[in-house]
Amino acid sequence: MDQTAGTTTAPIRGQDTLHPDGQYSALAKLFHWVTVPLMFLALATGLTIRFMKDDAKMSFYALHESTGLIILAIAVARLAWRGMSRPPALPDHIPPAMRAAASGVHHALYAALILQPLLGFFTTNAYGFPMRGATAFLGFIDLPKFMEANETLAVALHWAHSLIGWALPFLLAAHIGGAIYHHALRRDGTLLRML
Ligand code: HEM
Ligand code: HEM
Repeated sequence: MDQTAGTTTAPIRGQDTLHPDGQYSALAKLFHWVTVPLMFLALATGLTIRFMKDDAKMSFYALHESTGLIILAIAVARLAWRGMSRPPALPDHIPPAMRAAASGVHHALYAALILQPLLGFFTTNAYGFPMRGATAFLGFIDLPKFMEANETLAVALHWAHSLIGWALPFLLAAHIGGAIYHHALRRDGTLLRML
């Protein structure tokens, strides 16, 4: 079957022996797609907490922070799995610049998946507002307090958390836009590798 770009939306086959169907492993797909709604929830709650009042605000903190820590746990497991089972090779017809762009965005996304929750977690601790009581993990699991309150550190960590928080929607727009471009315009089967 001719599998050059623009002629098929079928998964590219026979690219490497570990992934003869050209697909990501079932576990890699599970990690990827479970992260998607959690990430949108973390972003939606993070960006709207400031508009909430009283009890609703506390529930938003608990939801935002718990979602973020779950994302972190999944990202750690996902990277460990990626270390053990490398992803399928990209089809030969993907040009070097496109490979570099995809790889850059993927690296940035992985960095954000790890760094962002850690920054958020240490921000809350540095503000002297650890995940306990009304903002416990999942609403009822009190987490240990990691440090005494330190306003200067808290402000710096919060700033970095906000910066990545605002950069993420742009990064995701590039990533999702890329996936749509490959699928709908280039029609090279890239999206199908992750489905
Ligand atoms: C991948 C996970 C996460 C994402 C994408 C994320 C995203 C965001 C975003 C976009 C904001 C709003 C920033 C702003 O408007 O300046 C925010 C605020 C915040 N996040 Fe996260 N966050 C994550 C994880 C966490 C975690 C794990 C914690 C704590 C355990 C946390 C604690 C906070 C706090 C305390 C704020 C400030 C809220 C406010 O009072 O305005 N975040 N986050
Ligand atoms: C509707 C939303 C999304 C779509 C359509 C999508 C699509 C894809 C596709 C098709 C790939 C495989 C690219 C390839 O073949 O090399 C991929 C990989 C990846 N995606 Fe997404 N994605 C979405 C959301 C997200 C989100 C929310 C994150 C995390 C914040 C994310 C992180 C990643 C990462 C890190 C990879 C690289 C996987 C690896 O090679 O280890 N994606 N995505």
